[in-house]
Amino acid sequence: MSQPVRLAFVGCGHCLSISFGPVLPFVDGLEVVAAVDLDDRALARARDEYGIPNGYHTLKECLDTERVDATLIATPVYEHCALAVDCARRGVHVLLEKPMARTPAECDEIIAAHKNAETVLMVGFMKRFNRSMLKAAELLEQGAIGQMMGIRHNWDWGGNESARFGPHWRGKRQTWGGQWQDHGSHSVDLAHWWAGPIRSVIATFDITEPFHEVENEYNVICTHASGVRSVHQSTKFFHRENEEHYLIFGETGTIELRHASGVWQHTTPYELYLHRYGRVRENHRPPFSTNWLEEGKRFGQYKVELEHFVECVRTHAQPLASGESGRAVVEVLSAAYLSAQEKREVTLPLTETLDYEEFFRSIIPRVPPRYHG
Ligand SMILES: NC(=O)c1ccc[n+]([C@@H]2O[C@H](COP(=O)([O-])OP(=O)(O)OC[C@H]3O[C@@H](n4cnc5c(N)ncnc54)[C@H](O)[C@@H]3O)[C@@H](O)[C@H]2O)c1
Repeated sequence: MSQPVRLAFVGCGHCLSISFGPVLPFVDGLEVVAAVDLDDRALARARDEYGIPNGYHTLKECLDTERVDATLIATPVYEHCALAVDCARRGVHVLLEKPMARTPAECDEIIAAHKNAETVLMVGFMKRFNRSMLKAAELLEQGAIGQMMGIRHNWDWGGNESARFGPHWRGKRQTWGGQWQDHGSHSVDLAHWWAGPIRSVIATFDITEPFHEVENEYNVICTHASGVRSVHQSTKFFHRENEEHYLIFGETGTIELRHASGVWQHTTPYELYLHRYGRVRENHRPPFSTNWLEEGKRFGQYKVELEHFVECVRTHAQPLASGESGRAVVEVLSAAYLSAQEKREVTLPLTETLDYEEFFRSIIPRVPPRYHG
């Protein structure tokens, strides 16, 4: 058996605790040798809760000290480009969390650095490894809904009940994106996978809570080259559990995917139905164990994603979620912001650049009166 891939986890916040941490021990061929975070508490958590032995405050310190083959970068988005480029310059492979970066230009820089270094660059689109998402792709491949006509994606949050965003980086202007950048990056990647490239985008964005300097609501319509329209929406005025819901409309059927039971539980497959004739509902959710540990060990999407990354590092194969697919998503995200700023449909490829901070400053918040005092 070949040596395990030695990985450093860079940025040890939520992405470690809610996504990868619980499945790290079950990933074949992986040894997580170091954690990197500016924050001592994050490093202590990485060590005490996830058994990552060595902690460093900077990537440089880590790479100067440890023998590392690869990093998983899960820092705020505005750090992605510099860190991913630094890794390439040191010959280190990268699994880079979504969104790949803030702008297509930053993505180009990352892709060029990794091409030059001949290192593997993969983007963290873990939904491509979710069993229900894979099953939906299989149904589409089999022609289960005939010609695809549209996609509707809602990712709604009940956050407005207690708007407490505070000083977190996700709400800050320097991120150059909010909820659309964060969640839209997944839904646009899925739309690319299911319906092919996007040709044009029209969008509106809103700020509906205090402390937000970037959008926390979005309404985006994408027209794909195939003619399919994908609609991506998110509101904070949902007043129930988080919901992630996809409908794929076809000539002869509709596929429905829903995050099961509203629980933020990443190992379970999504509910998956095929609807026909307005009255038939076929259940296609893959069978799963309610023993979440067993389920996660075998099928957890982050585990399968990491195993794919390990395999790519070992064989130097092109990952399923490549840098180019990450860039394609960031281009759509940026085109949507430009569309909202200029109040027009924007056509791809995107040739214009956008002053993101000026755009977010121009959004007049629609914050309900009860937040005013
Ligand atoms: N795919 C998923 O399911 C998923 C889930 C959560 C987060 N993410 C992605 O992971 C990234 C991080 O999100 P999060 O929710 O974990 O954020 P977070 O704020 O919880 O954690 C970020 C961590 O990075 C650290 N950090 C900041 N700058 C750093 C630097 N230069 N070097 C090292 N560490 C640094 C911070 O101290 C913090 O601990 C984002 O890109 C986000 O979109 C993906």
